[in-house]
Amino acid sequence: MSRTFSILKPDATRRNITGAVNAVIEAAGLRIVAQKRVHFTKAQAERFYGVHKERPFFGELVEQMTAAPVVVQVLEGENAVAKYREVLGATNPEQAAEGTVRKLFALSIGENTAHGSDSDENAAIEIAQFFSEAEIVG
Ligand code: PPS
Repeated sequence: MSRTFSILKPDATRRNITGAVNAVIEAAGLRIVAQKRVHFTKAQAERFYGVHKERPFFGELVEQMTAAPVVVQVLEGENAVAKYREVLGATNPEQAAEGTVRKLFALSIGENTAHGSDSDENAAIEIAQFFSEAEIVG
């Protein structure tokens, strides 16, 4: 069993589809072992996406991530990082496979409904930004 970090993005909370996304996550065999709703400050979003700060879309990404609340989650399962990236589909919804979260729900490459960590190392770093161990209940 391993863990990954997930964000249900503002386009999901705004459209009231977080339950529908969670249904896809759970049907894929991932367990939601921690979850809370937060509204990112600009500083929080800039920190979280710091690795992308030189990229041309950084300002737009920060704007989108602070436009409405998000739901931050810890997901647990076998090979959770890879499994969740598979469940999400490609970053660009136009390239996402049938049945994936982004194919089903995403609006654009930025408003792509959910984020998933890209490695076990980053999952641990991202989880620690939002959850204490005591808040994660497997
Ligand atoms: S990847 O596969 O995660 O490395 O994808 P990448 O293309 O590097 O994108 C990283 C995150 O940036 C977001 N993104 C954008 N936001 C706004 N506008 C544009 N044009 C844009 N392009 C990429 C993308 O949704 C990724 O967010 P996360 O939350 O990491 O999935």
